[in-house]
Amino acid sequence: MRKNIVAGNWKCNTNLQDGIELAKAVNKLVVETGDKKATVVLCPPFIHLTKVVELVDSKSVSVGAQNCGAEAKGAFTGEVSAEMVKSTGAGYVILGHSERREYYGETSEILNKKLALALANGLAPIYCCGEALETREAEKQNEWVKKQLDETVFNLTAEEFKKIVIAYEPIWAIGTGKTATTAQAQEMLAYIRQLIAAKFGNEIAEGTSILYGGSCNAKNAEELFSQPDIDGGLIGGASLKAGDFIQIINAF
Ligand code: 13P
Repeated sequence: MRKNIVAGNWKCNTNLQDGIELAKAVNKLVVETGDKKATVVLCPPFIHLTKVVELVDSKSVSVGAQNCGAEAKGAFTGEVSAEMVKSTGAGYVILGHSERREYYGETSEILNKKLALALANGLAPIYCCGEALETREAEKQNEWVKKQLDETVFNLTAEEFKKIVIAYEPIWAIGTGKTATTAQAQEMLAYIRQLIAAKFGNEIAEGTSILYGGSCNAKNAEELFSQPDIDGGLIGGASLKAGDFIQIINAF
C-alpha cells in the first residue's frame, strides 16, 4: 500500500525563531490530534533543518529540505550538499520545484545530478513536475509532464525509482488561489501513474505516492484527497499556519 503524504514546503519564509515556533506548533497538533493517516513532512529552509529535526517527534513528523546541491562537495560557494542535508537527520528533499526551474535555471541535466546525489545519500526525493498556464491552455500538459519525467526520474533504475515521491504542481495553481479542479488533478495523477506503470510496471506504479500541489488548503484538501490517485499534497502557503496545516493532514 502506498503512503499518503502531506508535505509542507515553507519556501523562503520564517526566520529561525519563527520556524522553530511553527515546527513546534505543527508537531504538537500532529502528536495530539493527528489521525495518523498520512506521513507528515516539514520542509523548512536549510538553516532550520537541524533544529526542526531535533524538536519534532520523529515517529509523527518527518523533515525534508527544499533543494540540494548538484555536486557532492568542494568549491561551490553557497551550496548545500545532499550529504549535508542527510547529516541533519532530514529524510526527504524536494527537487525540481517549478520555482527552482524558473528562477534558478534548473534543467533536467542538473536535476539528474541532484537526484543521483539525493538517492546515494539515502534521501527520498519529492520530485516536482507541472506545466505553465500557456501549456495547459494549449492542452499540451500531458506531453509536458511526460517529458519532465522522461528526462529525469524515468532514467532511474526500478530500485531507485521506488524511493521517489512525485508531486504534480501546475504552475498556474501555485500561490494563485486558483486550485486545479479535483477532476483536473485526478486526471493528471492517474496519467502519471499510467506512465510509471508503462515504464516500471504496475506494482511500482501502485506503490508510488503521487501528490498534488498548488493552492491546496484546509477547505479543498478533503475533496482532492478523496480521489483514487491523489495520495496527498505538497503545500506552500497553507503549511505556514499550523491550524490550517493540521486540517490538511487530517483530510484523508
Ligand atoms: P501554494 O500551496 O502556496 O500554492 O504552493 C504550492 C507549492 O508550490 C508547494 O511546493
